[in-house]
Amino acid sequence: MTEAEIKLLGSQLQALTEGEDDALANAANFVALLNNAMDDINWIGIYVLRGDELVLGPFQGLPACVRIPLGKGVCGTAASTATTQRIADVHDFPGHIACDPVSRSELVVPLLIDGRLVGVLDIDSPSLSRFSESDQNCVEQLCAQYAELVAGKPFI
Ligand code: SME
Repeated sequence: MTEAEIKLLGSQLQALTEGEDDALANAANFVALLNNAMDDINWIGIYVLRGDELVLGPFQGLPACVRIPLGKGVCGTAASTATTQRIADVHDFPGHIACDPVSRSELVVPLLIDGRLVGVLDIDSPSLSRFSESDQNCVEQLCAQYAELVAGKPFI
C-alpha cells in the first residue's frame, strides 16, 4: 500500500464513521474497507476483548473460532503483549490456532483506544510471508486512525 492509498483509505474510513455511533456498524465497515483494499488475503476480522478472552467480531472470510484466551495463538499473543504479530509462516508459530487451513501467514495488530486494549485486527493470507514491514506499518497506521475516529464512542 502506498502513502496515497493509505491516505485515501483514511479519508474513506473517516467518511464511513463520521456521525455514526454504532460500534458494530463502524467495525464492520472498517473490516470491509480493508478487505477490499488488500489482495491475497483469505480472512480479515476483529476479535473483541471481553474479560480475559477475545471474542469473534465483524469479519470477512470463512467462519472462525469464536473465543481465544489471552496469550493463546497469534491473536491472544498480540493482545496479551499489546504488540503487532507479523508471522511469515503460521506453521512455525507455536500454538497457532488454525481456523482456515489455507492460511499460511498472518498479521495481527492490537487495537488500542486511549491506550486501552479493546481487541485485535487479524489478517490471514494463503501465501507465505505475505505481509511486509511496510504492510505492517500501513495497517498499524489505519488501526490507529480507526481508534481515534471511534474514541469516545461505544466499542462493540
Ligand atoms: N490464527 C489465529 C486465530 C484466528 S483465525 O486466524 C481467524 C490465531 O492463531 O490466533
